[in-house]
Amino acid sequence: MSALPPGPSEPPLVQTLRWLLRPISFLESCRRRYGDTFSVSFLGFQTPMVMLSDPEAIRALYTVPGNTLPPGRTLALQPIMGSRSLLLLEGREHLARRKLMLPPFHGERMRAYEATVREVVAREVDGWPEGEAFALHPRMQAVTLEVILRAVFGVTDPARRAQLADGLERLLAGTSSSRLQFGMLLFRRFGGRDPLAGLAALRREIDVMLGAEIAERRADPREDILSLLVTARFEDGEPMDDQEVRDQLMTLLLAGHETTATGLAWTFDLLLRHPHVLERLAAAVDAGEETYLRAVVSESLRLRPVVPLAGRRLSQELRVNGHVLPADTDVTPAIWLAHTRPDRYPEPYAFRPERFLGNAPATYAWVPFGGGVRRCLGAAFAEMEMRVALAEILRRRTLRPASAAAERVLRRNVTFSPRTGTQVIAGRR
Ligand code: HEM
Repeated sequence: MSALPPGPSEPPLVQTLRWLLRPISFLESCRRRYGDTFSVSFLGFQTPMVMLSDPEAIRALYTVPGNTLPPGRTLALQPIMGSRSLLLLEGREHLARRKLMLPPFHGERMRAYEATVREVVAREVDGWPEGEAFALHPRMQAVTLEVILRAVFGVTDPARRAQLADGLERLLAGTSSSRLQFGMLLFRRFGGRDPLAGLAALRREIDVMLGAEIAERRADPREDILSLLVTARFEDGEPMDDQEVRDQLMTLLLAGHETTATGLAWTFDLLLRHPHVLERLAAAVDAGEETYLRAVVSESLRLRPVVPLAGRRLSQELRVNGHVLPADTDVTPAIWLAHTRPDRYPEPYAFRPERFLGNAPATYAWVPFGGGVRRCLGAAFAEMEMRVALAEILRRRTLRPASAAAERVLRRNVTFSPRTGTQVIAGRR
């Protein structure tokens, strides 16, 4: 009974390549063959990883206390985020940071950042070509980076912002290539030269710039999230030290920039392929009505989940779907599969925001932000940013697709991304 669920029998190298190169066909073929729960073997992992898509199983995984981080997260992220990143700490250390970092990401606080997003988007849209095709995804990356630099890091000086943006863009580009990802898997399995070593000098350069911002905000706190981090106190009354603040800033940047940009690019891709939805949304935006806008964001994150996996290592046995998974098993929701279950979402591949009108997404059947004590800290911020950016763009521009075919999924770093960057043709409204 405690045998892991069945899964593909190909060697780990083949399964890894299928996952890296054709993730959707890999996931869908596993579901067809093995059902809700199956085990995959990836290169660099000592044991198979179990994938789940049944909401009750996902609930069980995320609500059992004490589960730990999935393997490999520290190895991949620590060199960039630093050892005290919220994404890498466990247990009490993790919870203490979550408590301290959560307030600025909640409720009314978000309202204060809406104006920043609106301003950044308005300026960005002004520079768009008219009547000729361009890729939206990089434009959304520029928006979300600028929003983080302003709302989270609070960098007000435009020259400094440009310098920091340039360094961070180079760092992010350096860490997101498939070659580097594959190199990391080989490094983990066989050792050798660390594929991230080449980025060390750039990281130091960025640290100096961040250090200056941290020092300024300690001396003169403002409304940005960095100011809230330097003035917040742990339960014992101690503040975060500079090194840790730096780690959390890099964490917020890496967790919040590419993800939100990709969510926006997918939303536009879906809208462009469904002109009646685009039309209804534009009318709702013009009327200042938010309900449909919220439903569009929920439906886009369902049908095109940006982050495909958000796993845990079991601290104790877990019973799911007739299997008894032993402690120390690595288990993750296959988010794409969880979101395309016909029992939860009739006609699961149809883009239909109406399904969320009057129905908030169900906690464990809709998991674009993961769940439990590690659920995305920036979820409310990301949804706010997506809503404000969508509305602002639709108020200013008409959009039509530059190609007939919908975007295919490209696995990029830890995200599922639109393969050709969502090509559009924009016109003035
Ligand atoms: C559409 C955009 C976004 C998506 C799809 C997304 C998704 C996720 C997912 C799947 C996780 C892992 C959850 C888990 O392991 O259960 C996560 C964690 C996290 N995200 Fe996001 N995220 C987004 C935007 C943001 C933004 C804007 C920020 C902050 C500015 C942010 C900050 C974080 C942090 C700090 C964590 C770690 C939480 C922890 O370990 O306690 N994310 N996110």
